[in-house]
Amino acid sequence: MSASTLGKRPVENMRARVLSSAAAILVLALVVPPLVRGAAGLRSQAADGACSTLDPAPGEPQTSGPSPDLYCVELFPAAGIEGARGSVELRPPATPFGIHVTPAGTHVYDLALTLEGLPDPAALGPYTTFVAWAMPPLLAPVTKLGEVRRGETLTGRVALDQFLVMVTAEASADVTERAGRLVLRGLSASTRMQPHDLPFFLAGLLERKDSAGAHDHHATANADGWLPPPMHPRVSMPPALMTLRPDVTPMLPVGPADSAPLARPRELVRLADGDTLELGAGPVRKVVGTRTLTMLGFNGQIPGPLVQVERGVSVVIRFRNGTSIPTTVHWHGIRLDNRFDGVPHVTQELVAPGATFDYHVRFPDAGLYWYHPHAREDALQDLGLYGNLLVRPDDPAWLGPANREEFLILDDLLLDERGVMPYGREAVTHALMGRFGNVLLVNGEPRWTAQAEAGEVLRLWLTNVSSTRVFNLSFDGAAAMKVVASDLGRFEREEWVENVVIAPAERYVIDVRFDRAGTLHLLNRVHAIDHLWGRFFDQVDTLGVVQVAARQASPDHRAAFDVLRSNDDVIAEFDRYRTHIERAPDRTVIVTLQPGDLPFPLLPLMSMESVYRNPVEWEGTMPEMDWVATARQSRWILRDAASGRENMDIDWRFRVGDVVKIRLINDRNAVHAMQHPIHLHGQRFLVLSVNGVPEDNLVWKDTILLPTGFAIDILLEVTNPGAWMMHCHIAEHIESGMHLVFRVEG
Ligand code: C2O
Ligand code: CU
Repeated sequence: MSASTLGKRPVENMRARVLSSAAAILVLALVVPPLVRGAAGLRSQAADGACSTLDPAPGEPQTSGPSPDLYCVELFPAAGIEGARGSVELRPPATPFGIHVTPAGTHVYDLALTLEGLPDPAALGPYTTFVAWAMPPLLAPVTKLGEVRRGETLTGRVALDQFLVMVTAEASADVTERAGRLVLRGLSASTRMQPHDLPFFLAGLLERKDSAGAHDHHATANADGWLPPPMHPRVSMPPALMTLRPDVTPMLPVGPADSAPLARPRELVRLADGDTLELGAGPVRKVVGTRTLTMLGFNGQIPGPLVQVERGVSVVIRFRNGTSIPTTVHWHGIRLDNRFDGVPHVTQELVAPGATFDYHVRFPDAGLYWYHPHAREDALQDLGLYGNLLVRPDDPAWLGPANREEFLILDDLLLDERGVMPYGREAVTHALMGRFGNVLLVNGEPRWTAQAEAGEVLRLWLTNVSSTRVFNLSFDGAAAMKVVASDLGRFEREEWVENVVIAPAERYVIDVRFDRAGTLHLLNRVHAIDHLWGRFFDQVDTLGVVQVAARQASPDHRAAFDVLRSNDDVIAEFDRYRTHIERAPDRTVIVTLQPGDLPFPLLPLMSMESVYRNPVEWEGTMPEMDWVATARQSRWILRDAASGRENMDIDWRFRVGDVVKIRLINDRNAVHAMQHPIHLHGQRFLVLSVNGVPEDNLVWKDTILLPTGFAIDILLEVTNPGAWMMHCHIAEHIESGMHLVFRVEG
């Protein structure tokens, strides 16, 4: 960290103070450090860590490592401590998932303190050493991080939404409570989040002028039958903020309700080499809870048929577009022949309503995949057009033994009082956050139910098909879980996990052992943010119920389950790629946003919120604000750092056999910074490091979660010729420009 970096962050603290409510001022007054500048020469040892990256200037994109503003806490000296300085790097712990959170949804960090200019502890009183502590803003409970000294010390792991770090001089390194003199202190970026009282009230005052017709965003839409989405049950919005309308007309591409057949449950379809499957997309009626909705299904099913093949076969899938929107089908994650990748205007033209297209699909890799439309996914996929493809391995012992397996497709759906909330006809709505639903679904149903027996090992094949929601899944009872595989195969080593984080389009294979009789719930637990009030809150949704009977499962796979398998063939395969962890990237992609003519008060609200950005926005808590921005008013960007080119102007060329290291940087300074699930077509890649922290358990991926302000290095193994897309898998982001095409020769 340079002197100039150290100098900048106090400005942020100043911004936080201006926004403070009275209560927060009381708390912060105790701990906010004085505005100090200077202390040159402090450098973190961490390569590419948040504390060794320069803060971008305000308004400039983040272009080097992880965001120091979000992931580096500056430590300031207490009164009377001259010259001591420090920083705390918030390192994401290595995880088999995109990000490490607790089962309850709190983000977890390993804290690395870098200190300098520490006085002799004895000069401060009866002390021999320094100890670091972490605590929430109310100052209790206190977690001891450990003894710290000059230079870098990796201390403890912290799971707190908002926290302070203190360094005190202590009589001994063994103290269990903070008793000595305060030397340094600092606040996590999340403590800056404060209520938006001022803009909130201003918006209320200005609303009259707007609805009198000054903005045509609002004037046109009301007549077209838009209803605003229901508010989040836990977050209130002032009525003045509920009058905005998107600048597009509503659309529900489902046809007349009465003529559609009732959706059937998903069928298992086994295909052998050379087989043909007719796959028709069209309207269905679907009962969701107590309501009957008109949706879309493949072959009348939601989810679409579960297609099962042996590794290495080729099949023909004859797609018939029975919807009213031209589209294509993409075979997500499969390294197939480029002509059948289903990307409109890149590998084929759109399939018109009523027309067919034959996809010749080969399956070179065992694993779980899925298929979905690749034009207007925001509406077509959301309405039910998705299904799984299971590619069975050659070796039956590829994974450990399980008593049973289930395929769970995770989704959400946005319902209003009339049914499914309409989509934008001319352009997508929800262009900023993506479209969060207000009903969570498993296999199209609000509740998954299962029966199990005590000691049973159940294999869960998970796929997230939602437009934008990242799930954090766990069971609330006696269950042991391990993660065994992801997108295109197995991990190097199985790992015990307490919860599973899965971003849109990702897949994970989780083995669960139910230890004893009882009722367990499959939960989605997250810490959501109420931006208007500047607070975190717990959000718990029940996705499923498992009844575990007292009868013992047979055969008994418990002994095999208790062993974490290590896959020597996978480890050997990845050994040839590990040397790439240390080298410089071949390409750097900056992920950012160019906002256009957004309706008031979106821009001021977003800049208020931007004082802090969560690594992941887990829930859409402002449905009205999220809804009104359309793709006409916002352009999401993948920018090639070297050439400055963006999205489809990027012209990457690779050859089969290349191994390309790509650094993905999610610009924290984008006006609506948020996470993006990044997907590459037709190839596979490894995640080498996250914010400079090397990954220690690799797996072939086609989609990864790129949290806000993160810098992630991936290694693309170029094996498949053709023109391939790389894009954000948030349906509304791909429809807002966020895609590029790279060409592979050979
Ligand atoms: Cu699953 Cu290009 O997408
Ligand atoms: Cu995105």
